[in-house]
Amino acid sequence: MTGKIIGLGSYLPEKILTNDDLSKMVDTSDEWITERSGIKQRHIADPAKDRSSTMVVKAAMQAVEAAGIDPQDIDLIVTASTTPDLIFPTMSTTIQEAVGASENCGCFDVNSACPGFIAAYNTVESFIETGNAKLALIAGVECNSNFVDWTDRSSCILFGDGAGCAVVRAEEGKRNEFIMRSSGKRGVCLHCESARQPFRKDEEGFEKLTEFNMNGREVFKFAITEVPKIITDLSVKYGFNLGEIDYFILHQANQRIIEATAKKLKQPIEKFPMNIMNTGNCASASIPILLKEMNDEGKLARGQKIVMASFGAGLVWNANYIEY
Ligand code: ACO
Repeated sequence: MTGKIIGLGSYLPEKILTNDDLSKMVDTSDEWITERSGIKQRHIADPAKDRSSTMVVKAAMQAVEAAGIDPQDIDLIVTASTTPDLIFPTMSTTIQEAVGASENCGCFDVNSACPGFIAAYNTVESFIETGNAKLALIAGVECNSNFVDWTDRSSCILFGDGAGCAVVRAEEGKRNEFIMRSSGKRGVCLHCESARQPFRKDEEGFEKLTEFNMNGREVFKFAITEVPKIITDLSVKYGFNLGEIDYFILHQANQRIIEATAKKLKQPIEKFPMNIMNTGNCASASIPILLKEMNDEGKLARGQKIVMASFGAGLVWNANYIEY
């Protein structure tokens, strides 16, 4: 069995923060951010309106409608996020309730940092392959603006908020293939301590919500080394040529990382769609938001061969191959 995407949905908050806006908050410039990351703007949640759970519900309802399914038939919902607004219940059960799925639907969330959507996708594929799910909803959502350090110019310029969802149906066919890798010992270069815990007080006793730490150069080197390698390994495992692939849909973290990956794989940059200039890094939500945008633009067609790949905190990196 194989999982086919039959509906996509996404939600980006209305408020846009441009590089020029950021240059009024920290010592940076549109020129620096554009040159180093490719990002021109990002969508930022309005706390009065948008939380991870509300954003993901909007994207999920759109995906269910696009799929044209009876929500009562959904038997699995898996949501990826590093920034849920509640510790529990899961956002997947919130989606279940909102879209009208039945109580026969299994629900759980995963946290695998930016590679979360692919981790959720691979989990759902495994349920489908073993006959344990027939119609699933896979979600990715982040409210990064609640967690980044808005005084740290080296990281706050990168992130944005948003949600994306895919409805996937089991069909006859060769199973989709994936590889997942991780390195806890290298995790120190990207971590975020959180939140509302009594010991998170600064010297003056004020509660610190989060402490976001990133060694950008280390993450950059890790990404441009491991992402091309895992994609190459996937092609060997599954037996396809990179030239056959219609699109390499990579986590939108930095345009230079995507360009370096294309170069190492010796594939034309046109096969690497990007929306990072408009969205920034939406972590777990970046890939489904991009898929939805590509679908809206008429770039997706049945039978296309797609490789998705992501990397992030953990360190974790993963890749999968699907036929659209
Ligand atoms: N504006 C102006 N100058 C800046 C800024 C800024 N926003 N940020 C840093 N600088 C300065 C630095 O202080 C440094 O100055 P120095 O040379 O005097 O010390 C200089 O610019 C160069 O800094 P680098 O960090 O070397 O810049 P680099 O080219 O590596 O770009 C960046 C930085 C964009 C962060 C890049 O390293 C990157 O994208 N790394 C990957 C990060 C990433 O993708 N993280 C998310 C992973 S996914 C997840 O799971 C969350």
